[in-house]
Amino acid sequence: MPAKKSPAIHPDLEKVLITEARILRRVKGLGRELKRIYGDQEFTVVSVMNGAILFTADLLRQVDNPVRLDCIRISSYGAMTESQGIPKLIHGLTLDVSGRHVLIVDDILDTGKTLSLLASMIRGMQPRSVRVCVLLDKKGRRQVPFEADLVGFQIPDKFVVGYGLDFAERYRNLTSIGVLKPERQQA
Ligand code: IMP
Ligand code: MG
Repeated sequence: MPAKKSPAIHPDLEKVLITEARILRRVKGLGRELKRIYGDQEFTVVSVMNGAILFTADLLRQVDNPVRLDCIRISSYGAMTESQGIPKLIHGLTLDVSGRHVLIVDDILDTGKTLSLLASMIRGMQPRSVRVCVLLDKKGRRQVPFEADLVGFQIPDKFVVGYGLDFAERYRNLTSIGVLKPERQQA
């Protein structure tokens, strides 16, 4: 009998870090954690574009709560793998979050600059509560103290792409998360 073939790995990836099946299993688990936190209450999701779009779409379908969804855009790296200075808000909220339970959803917590800025900005809008959920956490890279309430996976200090995460806007549509080959980490 021929050996079972593992799915083809994208040629620009050094290796697959988290398979599609593991991602989806963990997203289901996060859905259960959200249910434990919020019960049947309504909450407002603030998704950080573009990286968190795929994760947000899968996560929201794991809960049956009434949810409101807003998207926010914060300046990113451009075609670089290192965060450049202070993140800038490019497109803000459209929903009013005062008196609401707010869940910020992002793809990855790296230096912590983006999410600490966003969380304090939202706290200033008098919400009922603010929580943060990230799919990935690179704990070793933190430059400002910040922890998320819910974390999908802790990962090592490697530049990763796929499942929403990009390098120069590419690779967001890969179904798994992988480490980009060093020779591909140039614009
Ligand atoms: P922070 O402000 O340094 O925490 O940066 C967070 C943002 O940087 C994330 O929302 C991502 O858009 C981006 N980022 C950080 N690490 C990676 C990575 O390994 N791959 C792709 N994007 C990343
Ligand atoms: Mg991002």
